[in-house]
Amino acid sequence: MSVTQLMENARSVYAARFGVAPVWLAVAPGRVNLIGEHTDYNGGFVFPMAIERYTVIAAGPRRDASGKALLYSEIFDESGEFSLAEKDAPSAEVSWRSYVGGTVACALEKGLRPEPFQGAILSDVPLGGGLSSSASLEVAVATLVEAASGRTIDPVEKALLCQKAEHEYAFMPCGIMDQFISAMGEEGHAMLLDCRSLRRQSVPLDNPDVVVLVINSNVKHTLSGSEYPQRRSDCARAAQILGVELLRDADTAALEGARSRIAAEPDGERIYRRARHFLTEEERTARFADALRRGDYPAAGREMYDGHRSLKEDYEVTCPETDLLIDLAARLGLENGVYGARMTGGGFGGSTVTLADREKAPAAAQRISAQYEEQTGIKPSWFVTRPAAGAHLIEE
Ligand code: GLA
Repeated sequence: MSVTQLMENARSVYAARFGVAPVWLAVAPGRVNLIGEHTDYNGGFVFPMAIERYTVIAAGPRRDASGKALLYSEIFDESGEFSLAEKDAPSAEVSWRSYVGGTVACALEKGLRPEPFQGAILSDVPLGGGLSSSASLEVAVATLVEAASGRTIDPVEKALLCQKAEHEYAFMPCGIMDQFISAMGEEGHAMLLDCRSLRRQSVPLDNPDVVVLVINSNVKHTLSGSEYPQRRSDCARAAQILGVELLRDADTAALEGARSRIAAEPDGERIYRRARHFLTEEERTARFADALRRGDYPAAGREMYDGHRSLKEDYEVTCPETDLLIDLAARLGLENGVYGARMTGGGFGGSTVTLADREKAPAAAQRISAQYEEQTGIKPSWFVTRPAAGAHLIEE
């Protein structure tokens, strides 16, 4: 669906529910990360781009005595009311309301004072596909709260407040990547973000012969939800043993020098491999960015395959389904227009990202999908995307 169509749908859903036309459309994209995975919370580099999949909220002022915000989720066909006078407390049960309520609460804490508003939330970012549907929801809500407050805040502050909402209301100790790119993506560009300084560089990805192909494995192995926090704490432990605040401040030589000391720790071998993923991923990300700037797509693609291997063997966040998607892409290879591929996002299922030749990408995607379905019995979904613009508000 095009964003124009999605916005049109949002207008109609809003009008049908509230009996008037919306006055604002808050739009925020999902993202795909090209490389630099599980590096943000270690202060490292990430290289995401916003995708042409969005959360859109059609909204307007709420003119009743409640003093609250009222939002309707089309996907869940449910409504929620959110306090604007004081911070709502987090609910133990996480749902779409947690992301909305958390963002509203954190925006209030930041000093935004919205007038009561009502809205209808629509999205074509697949839920649980590793494409940041939750960050796009948070950033769309924050954009709407800005509109209802009659002022905007610095987009970095906006990303940080959305990340805080995710930590405190969805209990997910995520890094800053997803909210940052959803808030600040730039059309035609990927973003090389230094997660320690939060300095960002826009890198053009506008060669008309090259596309980014996203394939959703349509599996989600959340296991227990403790895997992500466990990775974070393994990295924190590695940093502690190496005597640095963040793994960003260590290097491969320091890690290798400390290898026997780390191995002597409980779970030392695992902690060593986690740190090795981070440090080698930093190097791959730098090489990938250089290759992209030079237009050397085969070289960029090799870094993607290596990155996937590291996520599989050292970081252990891939799964048989995403591994299969990468193997199938690699088997097609350059002659079928595939430069490189890797899993993207947090892992344990979700999506893969493939850099591909524009003309050959659809045929490659169809072949990968058919073989994947044959071997797993699961139908994947895929789409090709250009780097999209970050969050914005449309006043009607
Ligand atoms: C999730 C988190 C991000 C990042 C990725 C892994 O998407 O929300 O902050 O850590 O996983 O790179």
